[in-house]
Amino acid sequence: MVKLQFFAFLFLLCLLQVSVGEALVESDKQALLDFVNNIHHSRPLNWNEGDPVCKNWTGISCSENGDRVIAVRLPGVGFHGPIPGNTLSRLSALQILSLRSNGINGTFPVDFGNLKNLTFLYLQYNDFSGPLPLDFSVWKNLSIVNLSNNGFNGSVPSSFSGLSRLIGLNLANNSLSGVVPDLHLPNLELLNLSYNKLVGHVPKSLQRFPKSVFLGNNESLLDYTVTDSPIVLAPHEQNGKSVGKLSERALLGIVIAGSVLGLLGFGFLLVVCLLRRKTDNSFPGKLEKGDMSPEKAISRSQDASNKLVFFEGCNYAFDLEDLLRASAEVLGKGTFGTAYKAILEDATMVVVKRLKDVNVGKKEFEQQMDVIGSIKHENVIELRAYYYSKDEKLMVYDYYNQGSVASMLHGKRGENRTPLDWETRVKIAIGTARGIARVHAENSGKLVHGNLKLSNIFLNPQQYGCVSDLGLSTIMSALAPPIARAAGYRAPEVTDTRKAMQPSDVYSYGVILLELLTGKSPVHTTNGDEMVHLVRWVHSVVREEWTAEVFDVELLKCPNIEEELVEMLQIALACVVRMADQRPKMSEVVKMIENVRQMDPTNRASSENSTPMPPSPGT
Ligand SMILES: *[C@@H]1O[C@H](CO)[C@@H](O)[C@H](O)[C@H]1NC(C)=O
Ligand SMILES: *[C@@H]1O[C@H](CO)[C@@H](O)[C@H](O)[C@H]1NC(C)=O
Ligand SMILES: *[C@@H]1O[C@H](CO)[C@@H](O)[C@H](O)[C@H]1NC(C)=O
Ligand SMILES: *[C@@H]1O[C@H](CO)[C@@H](O)[C@H](O)[C@H]1NC(C)=O
Ligand SMILES: *[C@@H]1O[C@H](CO)[C@@H](O)[C@H](O)[C@H]1NC(C)=O
Ligand SMILES: *[C@@H]1O[C@H](CO)[C@@H](O)[C@H](O)[C@H]1NC(C)=O
Ligand SMILES: *[C@@H]1O[C@H](CO)[C@@H](O)[C@H](O)[C@H]1NC(C)=O
Ligand SMILES: *[C@@H]1O[C@H](CO)[C@@H](O)[C@H](O)[C@H]1NC(C)=O
Ligand SMILES: *[C@@H]1O[C@H](CO)[C@@H](O)[C@H](O)[C@H]1NC(C)=O
Repeated sequence: MVKLQFFAFLFLLCLLQVSVGEALVESDKQALLDFVNNIHHSRPLNWNEGDPVCKNWTGISCSENGDRVIAVRLPGVGFHGPIPGNTLSRLSALQILSLRSNGINGTFPVDFGNLKNLTFLYLQYNDFSGPLPLDFSVWKNLSIVNLSNNGFNGSVPSSFSGLSRLIGLNLANNSLSGVVPDLHLPNLELLNLSYNKLVGHVPKSLQRFPKSVFLGNNESLLDYTVTDSPIVLAPHEQNGKSVGKLSERALLGIVIAGSVLGLLGFGFLLVVCLLRRKTDNSFPGKLEKGDMSPEKAISRSQDASNKLVFFEGCNYAFDLEDLLRASAEVLGKGTFGTAYKAILEDATMVVVKRLKDVNVGKKEFEQQMDVIGSIKHENVIELRAYYYSKDEKLMVYDYYNQGSVASMLHGKRGENRTPLDWETRVKIAIGTARGIARVHAENSGKLVHGNLKLSNIFLNPQQYGCVSDLGLSTIMSALAPPIARAAGYRAPEVTDTRKAMQPSDVYSYGVILLELLTGKSPVHTTNGDEMVHLVRWVHSVVREEWTAEVFDVELLKCPNIEEELVEMLQIALACVVRMADQRPKMSEVVKMIENVRQMDPTNRASSENSTPMPPSPGT
């Protein structure tokens, strides 16, 4: 059995230690237990009282001699509520604290002042509120402070100024107000104060940073020409200018919106007829009953109720003639119908999907198409056009020639297949999560994807995951019993109610993540014949202990990714919890995943060496 290097290392560390600092580390352990027992967390931690804290506890690292806890890294564990007082603050030797991407609320814990050795503090993506601590000078060693994406308000403390080792300060996306204090931080390399409510001007000491780090505040911050007093009321003239700009922009927006192309209508019947005249390689299927001459079809095209509707922004140049000459092949039969690849003469390829069992009338169908077609996002495959008649419902999409991620991952492993490396899988995971989150924001936050599986994920030109086949579950008849493989993606409640909801999308996404991590299909066989659901299998392996066995062997060849693998696994497991209401929202999942990628600069080094080194300049 191959152990993760990270844990093997901690294990070795602890073997070398005898009882030197046992008493101290025991009190650290008690502090951690007091912490975890007094805060709600949606994912179980393997913190067993009987196990040695330095050895077996997820997220904990100790000093070299094993006598103190020096790092607590618990990103994305699903903590909710405030940090209980007098718990973490007792870890007086703590140097690294990462609680990012949880749901922690309440104010900044005042007792953190006891953590005098604190060097790296990552609390971004939580729900903290209230003011920042007034006196940051108690943490003389602070190198990186990341409090971004919370709800902190009040002013930016000028006490940051005393922190000579500060390299990174991120307070972005809070509700901080007032002026930016004059901060003398010679070693500061990373700064972000954007998306707050700061006013006035940027003091000279911070004007070496690009204006982008002050975006999203009062526009006066972006004017570096004024440097005098920090308390400045924006001059009238400047105010007027910015208003002028805004209204210009607004005007432009209106003009553009007004010049929207009218919907293009084509006589789809003509397409159909001519296609049918073609031989075997032409568009298959009986799309229309009875023969009809092109002339007749053209006259029918004027009938507004029978046309192919293109969406705005669709820049396909194929006109009717081109489409008529298209050849087509079957791509696959899916949950909601059959997909064809149509190749136009100019080599443009589109996917035409023929829906079966649509359960709604024309109006509802069109409304749903409008919702789907309005989504323009780099991680969502755009619906380009649709067609509705009593007998036929078609959808036209872009064609992605690399095939689906399912075929890339599960395609025959061997010489002709490049294994998907971790970078690629991370990009697939991030893109897919963003795409789903975008879908979930649609239709006043009610749209459901409803058919998430790896074979519906493609790579966009930047090689990020991109979702397709969305939004159909509500207009189709009750979900049929799934085909074997699709069953692995279905949340327990969907199997029961036959109704897909946003939390069930989150579940399916969790399965996709597990698939990317393990390289295994959602339903697979082990030792020959036994059918195994991936989620159950992962649980059974993980319950034993965190071993490398759960991960795809192709991934274990990549160096230094153990921690990212473990963090991704944690996110996946949070997505596939049984109770739908305990799953994170897709927008939260996006944050968690993005944070795995923005690794603490020290994470890598410290998994090989327990004494964290400040990151070298430029990292
Ligand atoms: C604790 O970790 C050690 C080594 O990593 C392992 O042998 C042991 O089984 C673990 N104990 C538990 C209860 O997980
Ligand atoms: C802080 O760290 C230093 C070594 O970097 C150590 O000597 C000192 O004891 C630590 N302070 C506490 C309170 O543990
Ligand atoms: C913190 O969140 C909990 C629920 O998780 C809520 O009951 C409590 O009111 C919140 N507290 C604050 C200060 O927002
Ligand atoms: C800060 O770091 C230095 C060396 O890295 C260490 O000697 C010192 O104990 C640390 N703690 C404080 C509170 O200065
Ligand atoms: C900060 O927010 C709290 C409520 O969360 C409010 O009571 C307080 O007045 C705010 N402070 C400032 C300076 O806006
Ligand atoms: C702080 O967190 C944000 C969001 O995760 C990240 O983009 C940024 O790089 C971090 N900043 C620092 C200085 O670590
Ligand atoms: C600053 O933070 C904002 C909000 O999190 C983010 O959108 C932006 O990209 C960051 N800018 C820099 C330069 O890091
Ligand atoms: C700021 O945070 C909110 C949620 O807390 C998030 O929706 C938004 O995208 C963030 N903005 C930026 C620019 O990062
Ligand atoms: C920007 O700040 C000035 C002066 O503090 C204030 O008059 C103005 O209303 C602010 N603008 C916005 C958009 O908040």
